[in-house]
Amino acid sequence: MEKNLFTGIKIGNIDLKNRIVMAPMTRSRAPETFATELTAKYYAQRASAGLIITEGTQISEQGIGYPWTPGINTPEHAKAWKIVTDAVHAEGGKIFAQIWHVGRQSHSVFHNGELPVAPSAVGFPGKQFTHKGMLDLETPRALELEEIPGVVNDYAKAALLAMEAGFDGVEIHGANGYLVDQFINSNSNRRDDKYGGSVENRGRFALEVVEAVVKAIGSDRVGIRLSPAGFNGGMLDLNPAESYGYVIKNLSKFNLAYLHLLEGPTPNEDQQQYHIFKNGVAKVFRPMYDGNIIINAGYTKEKANAVIASGDADMVSFGVPFIANPDLPERFRVDAPLNQLLGHETFYGGGERGYTDYPTLEEVAATV
Ligand SMILES: Cc1cc2nc3c(=O)[nH]c(=O)nc-3n(C[C@H](O)[C@H](O)[C@H](O)COP(=O)(O)O)c2cc1C
Repeated sequence: MEKNLFTGIKIGNIDLKNRIVMAPMTRSRAPETFATELTAKYYAQRASAGLIITEGTQISEQGIGYPWTPGINTPEHAKAWKIVTDAVHAEGGKIFAQIWHVGRQSHSVFHNGELPVAPSAVGFPGKQFTHKGMLDLETPRALELEEIPGVVNDYAKAALLAMEAGFDGVEIHGANGYLVDQFINSNSNRRDDKYGGSVENRGRFALEVVEAVVKAIGSDRVGIRLSPAGFNGGMLDLNPAESYGYVIKNLSKFNLAYLHLLEGPTPNEDQQQYHIFKNGVAKVFRPMYDGNIIINAGYTKEKANAVIASGDADMVSFGVPFIANPDLPERFRVDAPLNQLLGHETFYGGGERGYTDYPTLEEVAATV
């Protein structure tokens, strides 16, 4: 029978009830970097997803780049997250923590005046949202060769804390122009040591992070997110199919829970090297990867069922649709209309409004 969003699937050792994944979304509601009861309520409301991937959670103080984002870098963080994982499990859900280091997408105001770190001292034009408002991005400081093993180890430490917190696994954030992506991408990595230059060298950091995290918690609990076709955070690779292809081919041997890929925007005339993705990112990389693929960005129920049926991807993650629809799987199942999204100002920061106050179908029915 043709597979669709509602066909069960096993990732690692976990059976998922459907192939509908809640995409990681920063919501900036973690005071002093801690998850709260409200965080628990938000994720528990969405536990009918086959898998929830949390918002980016920083692996170290060095990895922070935005206000009110949660951490997973101390035992106290793990304790706070335990309330969340317990609440999701009580509702029959599964939840992975997205582990995150923003690299150069940060600002010295987050680091007592010290510059953010990156593979190279290469900045990009733009502004960063901070506690002090929007500030101009700075040229980051290049990580010293001797510092890199410590950063790799921070991912492994965060993964161990995630286990302590009761998560079912972790997703390494290797997408959207953050640190892992900054190493892979030829635009942001100008190193001339073993972490820069060739595709093998630019891919080294990503693969070392994966290896360290797998060693810490086991491959069946590890996923990774990559955005080979994306330009977020000043990304622009000279040959993205080759750069990301190298990493993806080498990921196969780890036997991960999944590879999470993002579609990119339509490239312009000067971005010819990105036209290879015109029929979808998964089509390009599926033949190179042996394992489960989650695909994301801009998917509807119909498009999602089609990509699963085609075999190009195994699961589909939904971001914005999950913000406004805590019961998105049920709405897909019965073809119910989706809730109207409140303003984008409720995406980041604030309290319950636009976070935990979207009604389920049942709640809508009860009010009419
Ligand atoms: C409010 C918001 C916050 C986001 N935060 C993250 C994040 O922390 N980590 C990440 O990998 N992607 C993040 N994303 C990207 C989403 O995971 C997803 O790729 C994007 O929303 C496109 O999927 P959609 O079309 O289903 O919404 C965020 C998106 C939104 C709207």
